[in-house]
Amino acid sequence: MIEIKIYKKFRDTKDVRFFDISIADSNFRDLVIHSGPATSPPNDDKNNWQFYMHQNQEDNLLAISGGRTFFLVNFGWEYPFYKVRLESCGLILKIPRGTYHRSISDKNGSIVLNQAVRDREGTVESEFQVINSLENKELFDCINILEPKTKLLSIK
Ligand SMILES: [Fe+2]
Repeated sequence: MIEIKIYKKFRDTKDVRFFDISIADSNFRDLVIHSGPATSPPNDDKNNWQFYMHQNQEDNLLAISGGRTFFLVNFGWEYPFYKVRLESCGLILKIPRGTYHRSISDKNGSIVLNQAVRDREGTVESEFQVINSLENKELFDCINILEPKTKLLSIK
């Protein structure tokens, strides 16, 4: 199932919000900045969806600013296809190993911090290969036949 992580708010004072966003066991962080309505990974030249899928890495994603919508496919879940919207300073979305994922930013872009947990076998090269849905029938059928279930991760 999709897993949501909450984090601790230290305190709010006038014009200041203060959070502990630490993820236990995170050993790798990446910051992904979309300056406009970017799609990651981008569609292929015939507009087929492409995905990332990590065999050796769990993602823990927090939108720092802007909004971003993720599409997730995991054939080990009871329902395999989800659409999850991250809003600025909302909750943290965990993407388990083996989950196909792609994201689209709102028109003004977004900044997302990933506090990943990467296994010793994982490298940037092994974990960031682009998978074209056209070359994976199970994935292609899933995104074209099923409707995604929708979740919103916001604390507003
Ligand atoms: Fe990822």
